Amino acid sequence: MPIQPRLTDASAPRFASSAIRDLLDQARQPGVISLAGGLPAAELLPVERLDVALSGALDEYGAHCLQYGPSVGEPALLEALALTEGHDVEGLIVTAGSQQALDLTLSILEHDDPLQNLAAVENPGYVGALQVLRARRYRLLSIPVDADGMAVDELAAALVSGARPQVCYVNPSFQNPTGASLTPERGSELIRLAEHYGFVVISDDPYAELHLDGPKRNPIPDSDRLVRLGSMSKTLSPGLRIGWAAAPPPIRSRLELAKQAGDLHTATLNQLAVASILGDQRWWTDHCHGLRTSYRSRRTALLAALERALGSDPQAKGITIGDQAGGFFLWLSLESKHGDGTGSTEPDSIEIARAALDNGVAVVPGSAFAADPSTPPRAIRLSYSSAPVADFDLAVTRLASHLTA
Ligand SMILES: Cc1ncc(COP(=O)(O)O)c(C=O)c1O
Repeated sequence: MPIQPRLTDASAPRFASSAIRDLLDQARQPGVISLAGGLPAAELLPVERLDVALSGALDEYGAHCLQYGPSVGEPALLEALALTEGHDVEGLIVTAGSQQALDLTLSILEHDDPLQNLAAVENPGYVGALQVLRARRYRLLSIPVDADGMAVDELAAALVSGARPQVCYVNPSFQNPTGASLTPERGSELIRLAEHYGFVVISDDPYAELHLDGPKRNPIPDSDRLVRLGSMSKTLSPGLRIGWAAAPPPIRSRLELAKQAGDLHTATLNQLAVASILGDQRWWTDHCHGLRTSYRSRRTALLAALERALGSDPQAKGITIGDQAGGFFLWLSLESKHGDGTGSTEPDSIEIARAALDNGVAVVPGSAFAADPSTPPRAIRLSYSSAPVADFDLAVTRLASHLTA
């Protein structure tokens, strides 16, 4: 049976629904334990090392740190990124976080007629990507995510049926929100499809270093059809706003013009401080190792709290916990007792998150990640990255009864 591409309208709401926004605003109320945010643990932000790097950059480069700089980025950072990440310097551009790299990439790939803009995306998918895609008036071709990442065979079927996206956006490692990683077989097939049908794959991989159970993954092979986005936000500091795109040279040239038009360049001092930190290879390697150790123990603590509250077989209670091999999140899928839930009165993910918040714990409802708003997942996302570990038990106790209601 041919698969009907799930298309959303370009006139769909350009920003997250107000119900979800209100919920996330209230997550900051005093007394609420937040398992909602996707931010690094405050104690893992290396304040002292950055202090040294910032003053070191000022000592070494002087007034240059405070000057305008090239739109593609400071040569010292481009070289450091090329070495650490294994990219060609000629393909790199430094951006204000990977969010800006995504926005710039979408901007240069836009059709003159906005009605033609179509992006294949993971469903559920990273809310920040859905937001920028909608803000840029892309229609979304939503492709399901399973335990092996984006279901590339479903994308292939949509392409055979005539869908013609100009981009496909994926999180290859520890996807936000499900935690799933793309298999190398699917990564290769995705590139084969991109080359055959002429679309660009945008691989956004901010959690790549946070592989908690095995080696680093890199499932998508190089191609002229691939733009890789990376970020220092999860490993060093989101506040510095340092990310990058590694693109084939013709795309990199267009990104450079778009960056110049948008904000000229990324903050020079921040770039030089990050260059010196990456240049201190032993420190950087140890730091990333330390992050994995800390996030591994945070993940284990949240899983243990869930086990204490839900028992050792949450599936018996209709709760499936997604892949836990890396990143910041646990994705809890909640079985519907009414098939697809249509016409039922059981709470949807927003109602569950609202009830949990009233009980003092903030989580993100699965609906926030729905690329196809007509089929919101009955799921919630829990983050183990930043709340105090000592609060995990209380948070999960407050949450548990709402998951099985
Ligand atoms: C998948 C994904 N991409 C991008 C970002 C944003 O990264 P940056 O801070 O580099 O803009 C996030 C942050 O949560 C993310 O989860």
